Amino acid sequence: EKGGYEHFMIKEIYEEPQVIKDTLSEAEKIKEIVSKFKNFNRICFVACGTSYHASLIGEYLIESQIGIPTEVILASEFEYFQKTLDKHTLVIFITQSGETADTIKALKIAKKKSETLAIVNVVGSSITREADHVIYTRAGPEISVAATKTYISQLICIYLLVAYLGENEKLLDNLYKISRLSEKILSREEQIREIAKKYKFARDFFYIGRGFNYPTALEGALKLKEITYIHGEGYPAGELKHGPLALIEDNIPVVGILPPGPSYRKTYNNLQEIKARGADMIILGANNDTHLDDIEDKLLFDPEIDEVLSPLLYIIDLQLLAYYISIEKGIDPDKPKNLAKSVTVE
Ligand code: M6R
Repeated sequence: EKGGYEHFMIKEIYEEPQVIKDTLSEAEKIKEIVSKFKNFNRICFVACGTSYHASLIGEYLIESQIGIPTEVILASEFEYFQKTLDKHTLVIFITQSGETADTIKALKIAKKKSETLAIVNVVGSSITREADHVIYTRAGPEISVAATKTYISQLICIYLLVAYLGENEKLLDNLYKISRLSEKILSREEQIREIAKKYKFARDFFYIGRGFNYPTALEGALKLKEITYIHGEGYPAGELKHGPLALIEDNIPVVGILPPGPSYRKTYNNLQEIKARGADMIILGANNDTHLDDIEDKLLFDPEIDEVLSPLLYIIDLQLLAYYISIEKGIDPDKPKNLAKSVTVE
């Protein structure tokens, strides 16, 4: 069943290039759904865990590429925000399983007042029967508790949605290049394994990103916590100086997400501050970035990737990093302690 792989998690990561293609084949259906939306002037995403991080990328995309006021609410906190819902709010629910109790509860509240869309992986799940519109993520069954390929497919659906909502042809064209580029990332697992060996005894990790990759930092840290039991914290690059910089000390591993693009200079400066305090830097950046020459641990990407699309690729390395740390520590990444694949209690 694992198709020759040691764990479902690694099998599912290796399926990502194909999942990207399969999800892109839903483009026409997504276009049709977008054409059916009623008038709205505000978007609200609701989700938990990894699906919440995908939603955050949706927020950055819609705010920056289209300019519709957008917010993201954790499903378990949604009931405290229901007063401002109205018929001009489009509420988007993102869930792999379609069975998450918090998300189902929130959908029941939202549909009384607003139009609802669900982005779901499991066909026929509870959420798909309640929402006004449904988009399927086409990732196939995900067995490992840690969400990997379903996150990528949620992102593809969100990018398609944004491309159609904003009539953005360029974004659409660029999306079609992503599957090929994702294959390249999977070819460097040996390098990631070396980094995993080096840091497996760490007690804490920081993941730092800005803009579109702040959610990538959060998701990288969640994967780490979930399957390696190491404390990992995702932080926006500019926010560190407002407190957590006090925790940076010699040899603490810090993953810096540094794609080329408009956010580069500021993020670079923020990472320099961290490096100067003795942290061990693991940098995800462009392979033509000469500022990275003195960095020992770096995972480099094709500089052609637009910053807007970088979350789709950079997260793959962070999934692999968490996976290999888990393996190095002798943990079964498919079955992390205390967790279930779908959380059916509130
Ligand atoms: O099925 P859902 O997408 O609604 O699940 C939400 C979270 O429980 C889920 O993403 C969880 O955070 C993952 N195990 C993280 O890898």
